[in-house]
Amino acid sequence: MEKEFKNIHFTVIENGTRITVTTRHGSYPNLMYLLKEELQLESFGECGGVGRCATCVVKTSGITGNSAVKDRNEPNTLEQLGYSDETTRLSCQIYITADLNGAEITVLEI
Ligand code: FES
Repeated sequence: MEKEFKNIHFTVIENGTRITVTTRHGSYPNLMYLLKEELQLESFGECGGVGRCATCVVKTSGITGNSAVKDRNEPNTLEQLGYSDETTRLSCQIYITADLNGAEITVLEI
């Protein structure tokens, strides 16, 4: 239980700029909402996190645990865009948990 309240640190790369993010477990519904709000990204996450619009695509490294596994609509949506590798993800399908500690998230231009 104590683990859930510790700070979570990860790096976001957006348009060539590296940003260190410090947040807490569950601070946003998912990573898409965090990126959209903190980086003020327009046209990001247009379906509201259903996993269908693919406007929230990121490249990831260092995500651990259950968060490293694609789930629900994510694999099909990414395959339709031609992404079959394990590191390209829909940020709306990644929750804000300790699995993000030390990860690197690159926002892709779609
Ligand atoms: S917000 Fe639409 S797929 Fe992620």
